[in-house]
Amino acid sequence: MKTIPLDLIESPRDTRERPLRDLRISVIDRCNFRCPYCMPEDQFADDAVFLSKRDRLRFEEIERIARAFVRLGVRKLRLTGGEPLLRRELPELVRMLRAIPDVEDLAMTTNGVLLPRFAPALRDAGLMRLTVSLDTLDPATFRRLSGGRGEVEEVLAGIAAAESAGFDRLKINTVVMRGVNDEQVVELVERFRNSGHVVRFIEYMDVGNMNQWQGSLVVPSAELIERISARWPLRPVQRHYRGEVAERYEFSDGAGEIGFISSVSQPFCGDCSRARLSADGKMYTCLFARDGHDLRLPLRAGASDEQLVELIRARWTGRGDRYSELRSELREHAAGRKIEMFTMGG
Ligand SMILES: C[S@@+](CC[C@H](N)C(=O)[O-])C[C@H]1O[C@@H](n2cnc3c(N)ncnc32)[C@H](O)[C@@H]1O
Ligand code: SF4
Repeated sequence: MKTIPLDLIESPRDTRERPLRDLRISVIDRCNFRCPYCMPEDQFADDAVFLSKRDRLRFEEIERIARAFVRLGVRKLRLTGGEPLLRRELPELVRMLRAIPDVEDLAMTTNGVLLPRFAPALRDAGLMRLTVSLDTLDPATFRRLSGGRGEVEEVLAGIAAAESAGFDRLKINTVVMRGVNDEQVVELVERFRNSGHVVRFIEYMDVGNMNQWQGSLVVPSAELIERISARWPLRPVQRHYRGEVAERYEFSDGAGEIGFISSVSQPFCGDCSRARLSADGKMYTCLFARDGHDLRLPLRAGASDEQLVELIRARWTGRGDRYSELRSELREHAAGRKIEMFTMGG
């Protein structure tokens, strides 16, 4: 393979002129929840087949791949899964990633249940930001939305543990489904107003195939914004940076901020600068991808850093994905099954 010295490598652009800036790293495909919109219980019983330990990337392998991405312009890393805290040594990986020069942001998304055990070690290891998923404060709805595997009090204890460990301005991710938890949105807003944390409402997406997605269950962000601002007036805030997924709003009374991620009603493919790495080392260039590019095989076969960088660059420069913008067309005609969200990292 022809190689280019690392110091001569330029940050690549894809076929739509989008740079590569973010990498989401799924460290495990297993989860202690069975959220119906992600990993429905009826298809993932306890004996479901997940990756073996051997098939998962080791931390040293994740770090090497992450370094290659950083060479190509990535500045933000996010650990996710499955449930990332099911890898018990995760703080060690955080420490390794934090030591990579040029990483400006290192974050993690978790369902929060294991935070009481891990939050201090994650903080010590250098994790910069935390996103905790929480879909409702209602105990019965929470049980339903965790597939009967969790209690809302456990997540609230996780949030409290994160606060005590020194994480402030958490992001709280809430997937909204019509007729399931959309009536409980106002209660969530009320709970986190004035807390310094930012609740972000996510439109229920047609990721993967197993959640039996139906468009009728999506609550468009515009509807939620209207509902919330009838109670607490909101005004829009500038995006922090190009490619930021959430539309930001602040309460007019100064009680903080909330966000809306509207990938279904207002697709934002035009600015998407994200790549994803699955726990078994496949690179994906879109959340709705149907295939990935194996980096584990060359890595384990002895590829050099330069060769890894080139493989990633080639994949990125060939990227043309814009699934959300073409959703209805692609849902009807595209062949092949989409990769599940817990596989490639949400
Ligand atoms: C796949 S999870 C992985 C991390 C961790 N287990 C968690 O739940 O936070 C990452 C995020 O994706 C969101 N998510 C999963 N399936 C989704 C769907 N169908 N539509 C919208 N968001 C989804 C989850 O709510 C979560 O905030
Ligand atoms: S959304 Fe997160 S917590 Fe829920 S099943 Fe998927 S990976 Fe697990």
